[in-house]
Amino acid sequence: MKIGRLASIYDWLANLVFGAKWNAIQLNASADLNEHGRVLIVGGGTGQILDQLVDCKLTFVELSATMIQKAKMRPNTEKVDWVNQDFLTWHTNKKFDAVYCPFFLDVFPEPELNKVLDKIEICMKPGGKFYVLDFQRGNRFQQMLTILMILFFKMVSGLKSDGLLDIDQQIRQCNFKLQKEEVFYGHWIFYRSYVMSS
Ligand SMILES: C[S@@+](CC[C@H](N)C(=O)[O-])C[C@H]1O[C@@H](n2cnc3c(N)ncnc32)[C@H](O)[C@@H]1O
Repeated sequence: MKIGRLASIYDWLANLVFGAKWNAIQLNASADLNEHGRVLIVGGGTGQILDQLVDCKLTFVELSATMIQKAKMRPNTEKVDWVNQDFLTWHTNKKFDAVYCPFFLDVFPEPELNKVLDKIEICMKPGGKFYVLDFQRGNRFQQMLTILMILFFKMVSGLKSDGLLDIDQQIRQCNFKLQKEEVFYGHWIFYRSYVMSS
């Protein structure tokens, strides 16, 4: 996926499509993440959430160098461990207390999504928390908009996914148990936290 070419307008575009609520949704996970010591953010894009993370030791894995450049411009990010790599080929021995994926899991078709989820499990301490912000099936208009967004990202950035998977179901088939959920824009966007069974 080559989303870097959109990095300079990504946040503007998101605000245009999703409106005023978008920023609050992007920052929604900060209270949860601030409770943890070592936190991994995967596919963090321009790193909006970083504006509100104060207490944790952060590792930020992002495929796009341009996105990372934008994220680095945020205040108080000197201590972030930046990793400009494909998450699936990134090697680490670190174990994290929490992993956060904001609109990251939706970019993968099913076989790759399962590999990503396996890798997330490997990166976590037993009993670690997994936080996910992403899309799920909304109303008819939202389903149309989802199709248009997928087509747009396929053309512009080579998105591999052909449609929206049931991400929650895929996660629950792994070693994760649902703890908390919130929905936004009706049912279209979800924020869920899971705990990894020890
Ligand atoms: C849909 S964007 C979401 C960006 C941001 N997290 C947000 O909430 O708006 C997906 C992000 O995941 C990154 N990405 C895609 N595949 C990746 C991979 N294999 N490893 C790491 N990052 C990846 C993209 O570069 C992009 O920034």
